[in-house]
Amino acid sequence: MSAVTVIGLGAMGATLASLFRDKGREVTVWNRSPAKAAGLEGVATAPTAAAAVAASPLVVMCVYDYVAVREILAQPGVADALAGKTLVQLTTGSPADARDAAAWCAAHGVAYLDGAIQAAPSQMGQPDTPILISGDPAAFAQWQGVLADLGGHYAHLGEQPDAAATMDLATLSYVYGAFIGFAHGALIAESQGLDVARFGQLVQDISPSFGAFFAFEGQVIQSGDFTMKESPLRISVEATQRIHEFSREARLNTELPELADRLLKRAQAAGLANEELAALIKVMRR
Ligand SMILES: NC(=O)c1ccc[n+]([C@@H]2O[C@H](COP(=O)([O-])OP(=O)(O)OC[C@H]3O[C@@H](n4cnc5c(N)ncnc54)[C@H](OP(=O)(O)O)[C@@H]3O)[C@@H](O)[C@H]2O)c1
Repeated sequence: MSAVTVIGLGAMGATLASLFRDKGREVTVWNRSPAKAAGLEGVATAPTAAAAVAASPLVVMCVYDYVAVREILAQPGVADALAGKTLVQLTTGSPADARDAAAWCAAHGVAYLDGAIQAAPSQMGQPDTPILISGDPAAFAQWQGVLADLGGHYAHLGEQPDAAATMDLATLSYVYGAFIGFAHGALIAESQGLDVARFGQLVQDISPSFGAFFAFEGQVIQSGDFTMKESPLRISVEATQRIHEFSREARLNTELPELADRLLKRAQAAGLANEELAALIKVMRR
């Protein structure tokens, strides 16, 4: 059984350490506030970050942010103890943070993987727990079996170390865009005295097929061929205009419908009405 070190025992880090421990691994932990480490049974507690790193060939870090990451990496003895090992960084950060950490690891002889956890602590360790990861492919191949303790659905996005952080931003952009749409839909439903919980269920029901539709639109954008195959943009011009008109007449907030209506009309004015809906990106690129 591989030994693994976990640095950071907040809500997420403590969950990661527990998952490794529950799989029978030899786990060493370090946390800035020692009380959290003392509260975790069945793991070895190191007195310093350097001692924790020295204990295992695989080091998983999950702290609040990259300010904390940089402070920990700068602690006495940490760089020397990490040399020749693999660091899996599961602290959420920006693409620039990931590039900086990868450069630091390259300069110190450390194999680097940068990950973005797309789940809450209670959702970790499941066959479908989504974790984005990028960086050193050989290190991922070497440690994939151990990292599988944390979740069964890794997407390795290639060698580019900032790919996971970038795709994390891209998927969060989708999530927040969809959530603002969801909140506006709730306004529409409640304005007519309809059950908003039922609306939430309807959204859940349509999500798998819309997910498949978005995956298709992604292929269209990547290919650059916007020939209409599934959904012509003109249908969405009409739909967003209907949402906008209804919202105005019902005296609801119109910020989102105005934006959607305006973007789709710009695409129509640009001659894209009979292309695939994905052609909207052409006006957003300008
Ligand atoms: N929780 C979630 O739902 C979730 C989901 C996905 C991703 N994540 C990501 O996972 C990471 C950890 O999240 P969390 O929920 O575990 O956070 P948390 O409960 O707030 O814990 C933060 C951890 O960072 C440590 N820390 C903060 N500043 C530090 C510093 N300057 N030096 C050393 N350690 C420092 C804390 O140590 P002390 O105990 O000493 O304060 C603690 O171990 C974050 O990047 C977060 O975005 C979390």
